[in-house]
Amino acid sequence: MLHDKKILVCVTGGIAVYKAVALVSKLSQAGADVKVIMTESAKEFVTPLTFQAMSRNDVFFDTFDEKDSKVIAHIDLADWANLIIVAPATANVLGKVANGIADNMVTTTLLATTAEVWFAPAMNVDMYKNKAVMRNIDALSNDGYRFIEPSEGFLACGYVGKGRLEEPERIVEIVQEHFMPKHLPLKGKKVVITAGPTRERIDPVRYVSNFSSGKMGYSMAKAAAHLGADTVLVSGPVSLEKPSGIKVIDVESAADMFEAVKNEYDDAAIVIKSAAVADYRPSEIHSQKIKKTDGDDSVLKMSRTTDILQTLGEWKKEQILIGFAAETENVLENGKGKLERKNLDYIIVNDVTDPGGGFGSDTNVVTLLSKDGLQQSYESMPKEELANVLLEVIAREEGFDAGNDR
Ligand code: CTP
Repeated sequence: MLHDKKILVCVTGGIAVYKAVALVSKLSQAGADVKVIMTESAKEFVTPLTFQAMSRNDVFFDTFDEKDSKVIAHIDLADWANLIIVAPATANVLGKVANGIADNMVTTTLLATTAEVWFAPAMNVDMYKNKAVMRNIDALSNDGYRFIEPSEGFLACGYVGKGRLEEPERIVEIVQEHFMPKHLPLKGKKVVITAGPTRERIDPVRYVSNFSSGKMGYSMAKAAAHLGADTVLVSGPVSLEKPSGIKVIDVESAADMFEAVKNEYDDAAIVIKSAAVADYRPSEIHSQKIKKTDGDDSVLKMSRTTDILQTLGEWKKEQILIGFAAETENVLENGKGKLERKNLDYIIVNDVTDPGGGFGSDTNVVTLLSKDGLQQSYESMPKEELANVLLEVIAREEGFDAGNDR
């Protein structure tokens, strides 16, 4: 969950530069926006092009190569970052920063930033134990810099000992822990979320479905887990990666989805129905492929599916029920109607024709309505960010945010 986090990786010259490539790749894969600055020595090990490809951003190394005349690059990067990681950090860069020296793009940026800076040192074991290096590490720690200690093992110089750059996977974990909310309003609560379309079979080769991508539902599931919930995601057929740390139940039809949700309902604190459930299914599923016939039009007889949310509304005890309403006209009015009719606590309505959101899009524009009269509209924003905002608001409205600290 590093989405919307801006991480600057400063790469200084040691053999572990190759591991910094993996670090940048993994941070990007985790959703972070990553930029890289290299020292001249780092460029002796790996070219800037490699980091550019991994981060999908320009790589900086020359303080005087100002790519954008409107900004001063090292100040701009220093201000941009939410977190700066110096990896690998050589004895040289530690010495310079400990003494306020700013003689290249990395050190000038480090001096100019107010963001948190972490050093991940990597060097020969005896260099690491050297008194000057230890003194510099102490001074930097006292100045508020954080260290990701090197691990022990075989070093490139042939020695065995402490000096290996911490594994990129572990550094990413430490970064994720750092950005985890300190406050987990949904801790101890079971949250069930449905996502994606349903598929209603016609025959062995055909089905009826809709354009839902599942992105909003998956974002809601990730946000719930991020806020500490025990999260269950009931997913229709989508082409999204399974989120980690979340129980995923794959379903196909509206009937399958109803069955799965029913099984998870009793002990759920919150149920969020983001799925675009088919309202109708073919009345009959043909066991053989339907053959075309000459002449006549074909008519497919459809029957109503169960309205899952409405049924949950009828069965509701302590559960908080949250629905979605995808509308193309009279958006708020239709949304309010569904809120009441389905006995919901909240409904998230959106106009699927709005260019800032809708099916398949990475962004959404919604209004949150509650049975108690809350009406809050949100500008277009990435679905993952919106999901966090919506759940934070709902947790606060429900008084879930008291005393659930990490
Ligand atoms: N929903 C459901 N089961 C259905 C149909 C819809 O649980 N068979 C849920 C959706 O997951 C969503 C909410 O009901 O949270 C509203 O869905 P939507 O398709 O917007 O509305 P419908 O109730 O189907 O009404 P209409 O199609 O008439 O707009």
